[in-house]
Amino acid sequence: MKVMILYYSETGNTEKVARAVAEALEPKAEVSLRRVEEASEDLGEYELIFLGTPVHALGPAKPVREFLERLSANLEGLCFALFCTYSMAGASRTLDFMEKKLANKGAKVLGKFAVFGAFKTFFKHFKKGRPDEKDLAYAKEKAEEIFSALQR
Ligand SMILES: Cc1cc2nc3c(=O)[nH]c(=O)nc-3n(C[C@H](O)[C@H](O)[C@H](O)COP(=O)(O)O)c2cc1C
Repeated sequence: MKVMILYYSETGNTEKVARAVAEALEPKAEVSLRRVEEASEDLGEYELIFLGTPVHALGPAKPVREFLERLSANLEGLCFALFCTYSMAGASRTLDFMEKKLANKGAKVLGKFAVFGAFKTFFKHFKKGRPDEKDLAYAKEKAEEIFSALQR
């Protein structure tokens, strides 16, 4: 079984989650991990595709939005799992936006999850230290859950 994990990450949080997902599934599948900017639009050989983004202004980051546009208009037969990292608000809005874009093109979304990620501004450090070990364990659990749903 071939699994592709695509992600965008500016400060490393979403990349940590993407790597945790890879670690969880490596014993069970042939896993590839790639930044979304370097991803091919031809994903037909993968049984499951994870797509991860940080929440930017209550939505997916621009490279992820661009990738969703770039994908073919017919994604029938492809299965996705979505994840995001965020520090305050907008996680479900972000995941729903991505799901709608993919569903409109005919793809299936098997599951989605969100994890806190630190965000340092000039005057405040939101969710410092996140994602932590517990967050990454949660991401692994979710990834395994989605992966087993696919096999059923
Ligand atoms: C430009 C920008 C906009 C952001 N907007 C939001 C937001 O709307 N809601 C939120 O909860 N976090 C927001 N954040 C925080 C990030 O989602 C959070 O730090 C995330 O974990 C970053 O992931 P990354 O390290 O993979 O880039 C924003 C961060 C940046 C840099």
